[in-house]
Amino acid sequence: MANMIDINDVWKIYDVGGEKIEALKSVNLQIEIGSFISIVGHSGSGKTTLLSILGGLTKPSRGSVKIDGTEIWNLNDRQLSAMRNRKIGFIFQFSSLIPTLRAIDNVALPVIYANGHGKTSRKETYEYAAELLSTLGLGRKLQSFPSELSGGQQRRVSIARAFINRPTIIVADEPTGDLDAQSEGEVMEFFSRINEQDKTTFLLVTHNLALARMTDKVHSMKDGMLTHS
Ligand SMILES: Nc1ncnc2c1ncn2[C@@H]1O[C@H](COP(=O)(O)OP(=O)(O)OP(=O)(O)O)[C@@H](O)[C@H]1O
Ligand SMILES: [Mg+2]
Repeated sequence: MANMIDINDVWKIYDVGGEKIEALKSVNLQIEIGSFISIVGHSGSGKTTLLSILGGLTKPSRGSVKIDGTEIWNLNDRQLSAMRNRKIGFIFQFSSLIPTLRAIDNVALPVIYANGHGKTSRKETYEYAAELLSTLGLGRKLQSFPSELSGGQQRRVSIARAFINRPTIIVADEPTGDLDAQSEGEVMEFFSRINEQDKTTFLLVTHNLALARMTDKVHSMKDGMLTHS
């Protein structure tokens, strides 16, 4: 099977007031198309930094990051954001909804941003946004603003948004952190269904070992280094 993600000898060194923080130390990671992997590890071990680098949001200090065969950190800004928008659905660790937009508009936004409905009609986009929100248990909250939703409901809106462009990769940074056990189970079922149906590649960062064990492979991050268990 070909690799969807191929990371070789990736380092990230932050310079904070002259102090060097090695957030990633020679990380290697290969993920096959359509596989569902998880990353576990203590707070501060480098998980978000890694996701952010392979998602094209943070530039590594050095190393190679290939997505679907393309060395992404050789792309220019425009190519990089086009790649991100087309290929990657990002579920952030912290809420990133736009407070002035209703739930359904938050979900539809990446499509509107990407092509102004060039490929997909506005109707199709909004139908899919409503379907995603309903699947995630928010069928009655389509018109709510983020401030009118609970933390767990906001979290599910941002999960729905990651899927709107039908990305080939979903990068999820503790997506079920503020959900109860039942909602968490439903979200994992939804992920598994999309993974099987569409061969979407999934990377899941979680502190929940039981969830991690449901995935194809569990990787552990410790002090900026990735080990395979
Ligand atoms: N922008 C930044 N500037 C300086 N240091 C940073 C920055 N972002 C992260 N770090 C540092 O890099 C290390 C890894 O942080 P990261 O956010 O990747 O950890 P994490 O594994 O996601 O932790 P958590 O489980 O708490 O989310 C930490 O020591 C952190 O303080
Ligand atoms: Mg993190």
